[in-house]
Amino acid sequence: MHTYLVTGGAGFIGSNFIHYMFKKYGDDIRIINVDALTYAGNLENLKSVEDKKGYTFIRADITDKSAIERIFTDNPDIDRVVHFAAESHVDRSIRTPEVFVQTNVLGTTVMLNCAKAAWELEDGSFKEGCRFLHVSTDEVYGSLPDDDSAFFYETTPYDPHSPYSASKASSDMIVKAYMDTYKFPANITNCSNNYGPYQFPEKLIPLMINNALNGKKLPVYGDGMNVRDWLYVEDHCKAIDMVINKGRLFETYNVGGHNEMHNIDIVRIIIESIHDMLADNDERKAHVNDELITYVEDRKGHDRRYAIAPDKIRSELGWEPETMFREGIRKTIQWYFDNTEWMKNVTSGDYQKYYESMYSV
Ligand code: NAD
Ligand code: TYD
Repeated sequence: MHTYLVTGGAGFIGSNFIHYMFKKYGDDIRIINVDALTYAGNLENLKSVEDKKGYTFIRADITDKSAIERIFTDNPDIDRVVHFAAESHVDRSIRTPEVFVQTNVLGTTVMLNCAKAAWELEDGSFKEGCRFLHVSTDEVYGSLPDDDSAFFYETTPYDPHSPYSASKASSDMIVKAYMDTYKFPANITNCSNNYGPYQFPEKLIPLMINNALNGKKLPVYGDGMNVRDWLYVEDHCKAIDMVINKGRLFETYNVGGHNEMHNIDIVRIIIESIHDMLADNDERKAHVNDELITYVEDRKGHDRRYAIAPDKIRSELGWEPETMFREGIRKTIQWYFDNTEWMKNVTSGDYQKYYESMYSV
């Protein structure tokens, strides 16, 4: 029986991971979710597990060393750390880089240091079976040319461009330093863009779904021809479970489903799918069409193309994505149809201010 300390479990991927793990392991695991509940963290995402015997929520900031130390001291059975907590949005990082360095670099160092202190034995080795997984992104590798044959491998040199990707690259380097210096039992996963339920509507897919349903313009940056490699969030959760439980220690695994698409095509598929899925007598149907698409000023330093080569995780661990894009996007849209209250709650208050200052459309 493992006890997982999950950081950032109230965010998009973290909450999907907690649901995935309870669905898979039932009462055979314990999960302690540590989250500061920033604008991106939402306990609504975890309503259905909050009364579970094996689940505990602790509100704490990962940069708060004494709070994190206390969690390890109070819970000596923690033998797995899955570290999601981060500032995660590129556009916000361009406006306020400092908080990205604070949370992503300093916060990761605090997590590593506290786990090391809790797991280290007198001879400098670590308690048998304890493992730390640092959840990172393909954005650390930089930008690929518009050439379909180039991919990110685990050996691709880091070349981050945004404050977000630079802070994630720095945090990956700190994890690597702990592995090299102390033989600290860790892994890193670098995953491509995720989509699915509970994603905050500052990111491309939920923003477009929300705007389309409300008849608002769909702001496409630049020429709309940037490429991202989209993965359904549950497939990412499955990869994380495989790596932390079966991956070779100290290794990095790239995670992605070879689903590279131009942004403009994603937006068109969302419009088409929503149009198709709304009932004929739904009054929103009339305004969901291509006329909503608006090209806006490009993002500063906008990476052109991301594409993951998932060969290593596939051959070593047998990981395969299960949800193809057309199916995943319909499941995602259906989730947003069914959870209008969730969307209303997360887009009230500060979101409006963010949206107005970010988009003039
Ligand atoms: P998110 O922004 O939805 O969630 C982040 C969570 O971390 C929130 O619950 C927030 O409250 C919490 N948090 C932020 N700062 C904190 C702090 N100082 N202390 C404690 N908790 C804090 O992010 P996400 O999209 O779920 O991404 C999770 C992780 O996965 C991140 O590390 C991100 O870099 C990585 N990742 C994301 C994607 C993607 O497409 N979303 C792809 C690859 C990797
Ligand atoms: P995003 O979801 O922010 O993920 P990331 O930048 O981490 O890949 O953006 C995905 C792509 O969509 C990226 O190329 C920027 C673009 N984009 C838009 O064109 N319009 C938008 O309103 C947003 C949020 C993103």
